[in-house]
Amino acid sequence: MLNIALGKGRLAEITLKKLNNIGIDFPEYSPESRKLIFLNEDRDIRLVLVKASDVGIYVERGACDIGIEGKDTLMENEPNVYEMMDLKFGKCKFAVAAPKDFEKEKNKKIRVATKYPNVAKSYFEKKGEPIEIIKINGSVELAPLMGLADVIVDIVETGTTLKENGLIIIEEISDVSARLIVNKASLKTKRDEIAKIMDALNANI
Ligand code: PRP
Repeated sequence: MLNIALGKGRLAEITLKKLNNIGIDFPEYSPESRKLIFLNEDRDIRLVLVKASDVGIYVERGACDIGIEGKDTLMENEPNVYEMMDLKFGKCKFAVAAPKDFEKEKNKKIRVATKYPNVAKSYFEKKGEPIEIIKINGSVELAPLMGLADVIVDIVETGTTLKENGLIIIEEISDVSARLIVNKASLKTKRDEIAKIMDALNANI
């Protein structure tokens, strides 16, 4: 049996559609369901729905053979897995955003609120800019509005959340999209099944 880890949230629906397109469907799945494990009996494939930032650890530890994960959480968590394919969907970008009137004060550390402390730290370190990281777990756009931070590092997809909260992008960090990751041992032991899925996805990009 081949186990696939998929993050609940922004990539789930589109990934299931892509799998469906290549003949891998999970008849019991529905967005309303609270089930976490779904089977495709014909192909002997099991899909597990995990928290998006946990996909990497399931694949790293071999609980799943394959994972579909955003480059954002891959960059943040750096799981020990093979990143095999850019699936070219779930496109967004990492950016630094701030209130329109933000001005950097000289000799003062910028306070950066983010769900991605490692990404933020490495970005500002490369620029040689000292910062203070404030790790939060969601609704990051709120932090500068409430005086918790000066700027945020977050993913931006449509830009609507920034716009509706009066923030603007001040620096772009990198592009983000969904990636197919594979457990290192599984790539050897289940090579044929994995290759078949990758070829089909590739033809479907
Ligand atoms: C993400 C991200 C932004 C928003 C960007 O949050 O952290 O808040 O989506 O999307 P947009 O540019 O299309 O508006 P998510 O929806 O994952 O929720 P969260 O804030 O609770 O983490």
